[in-house]
Formats: sequence, C-alpha cells, structure tokens
Amino acid sequence: MKKKQRQHDPCLITFEGIDGCGKTTQAMLAFRFLSGKGMKVKLLREPGSTRISEQIRDILLNRKNSMSDITELLLYEAARSEIVSREIAPLLASGYIILCDRFYDSTTAYQGYGRKLDIKMVRALHKVATGNIAPDLTLLFDLDLKTAFSRRTQQLDRLESQSKAFFNRVRRGFLEIARKERRRVKVVDAARPVKVIFADVSRILTKKLKIDESISRSN
Ligand code: TMP
Repeated sequence: MKKKQRQHDPCLITFEGIDGCGKTTQAMLAFRFLSGKGMKVKLLREPGSTRISEQIRDILLNRKNSMSDITELLLYEAARSEIVSREIAPLLASGYIILCDRFYDSTTAYQGYGRKLDIKMVRALHKVATGNIAPDLTLLFDLDLKTAFSRRTQQLDRLESQSKAFFNRVRRGFLEIARKERRRVKVVDAARPVKVIFADVSRILTKKLKIDESISRSN
C-alpha cells in the first residue's frame, strides 16, 4: 500500500558548493530522509532535469566546446528558465518540497566570481530566468580545493578543467553569498565523513521543515 504523504508548505531547498564538495551525495541522502518521512519531495539538478536543460548541460560541459563567458552565462540561465517553468514552479504550486542540486548561487559563484562577470548583471539575469522564484534554504558545502581536487576520479569536464585560481574565486564567491545572506544560506563543513555531514544536514532540514522530532526518531 502506498504510504500516505504528509502535507507541508512548498519549499525550494538548494545544494551548493564547488565541484567535488559532495553536495550531490547529500542531496540524495536528504531526498531519502524526507521521502522516508512521507513528505512530497522531488530531487532535481541544475543544469538539467528537463529535456532541453539536459541538452544545454551537454553543450556546457563538453570539453570540446569553447565559448565566450557571456554565452556560458546565458546558457546556464536558459537551462534555468526551462527547469523553473516546467518543473520548479508547477511542483511548488502542487505543494512539493524541491531539493535542487545547484541553482542560481552557482551562476553567481562560477560566472560572476569565477569568470569575473559583472555581479549585478548576473543577478539581473537570475530574475529573468526564475521569474523571482528564490530558494527558501540553501546548504553550502564548503571544502578546501586540495581535498576537492583529490576526489576527482573520472575525466574532467569543461568546467572542472578550469584553473585552481578560478576555483578559489568560486569558493570565495560562495562564502561571500553566505556571508551576505546568513538567514537563507547555511554553511556546512564538507571536509568530514559523509555520515557526519549528513547529521548536520538532517538537523538543518528538521528545523527548517519543522519535522516533528518524535517522527524523526521513529524513522
Ligand atoms: P554539477 O557537476 O554539480 O552537476 O554541475 C555542473 C557544472 O556546471 C559544475 O562544474 C558547476 C557548473 N555550473 C556553473 O558554472 N554555473 C551554473 O549556474 C551551474 C548551475 C553550474
């Protein structure tokens, strides 16, 4: 028999950080944790999660492609416009909790701070792409570059192939966003074992979603 789903205010929760920070693993664990509690939850990724956004992702990450920084920025925002209009907005309207592996903070950090594009312009484009939908909560998995780079196993994609200086700017960019938006962005130390990190993540989610502690313990 299908488990009865618990009602909850719709909510957009994003998972952010540099490549190799472990956010995708944490987003998957969070998805299991919340669905295990009978919550209406959906896991999405950016760029991706729609037919067109996945095609744009292939263009962006293909190492054989070279493009201007503005083209790169616009492609990320185009992919975002698709996922927002086809997935995020309708799911929020149907009362879902959405977990999104990256969202517009990645563009601010990678294209704004990393590529050194004008931050105001970048933020203005977020508004165009999202129609003003903003995350209710963002988990920023902060990790030093040495550890992040040491976790690399497969062939690097176009973005992962950027320099150390680039990733330093991206990391600083993420931390700057967190400093400016303390209420929304929670920084999680990602240099620890997966289980220890998830203990923090589940605590933050439990608080934000006001999950009943007794239900938490029984699951
Ligand atoms: P992923 O590896 O986390 O799936 O993300 C794909 C890559 O795209 C990753 O290197 C970060 C990069 N990226 C940007 O540069 N700007 C963006 O807006 C997003 C969403 C991702």
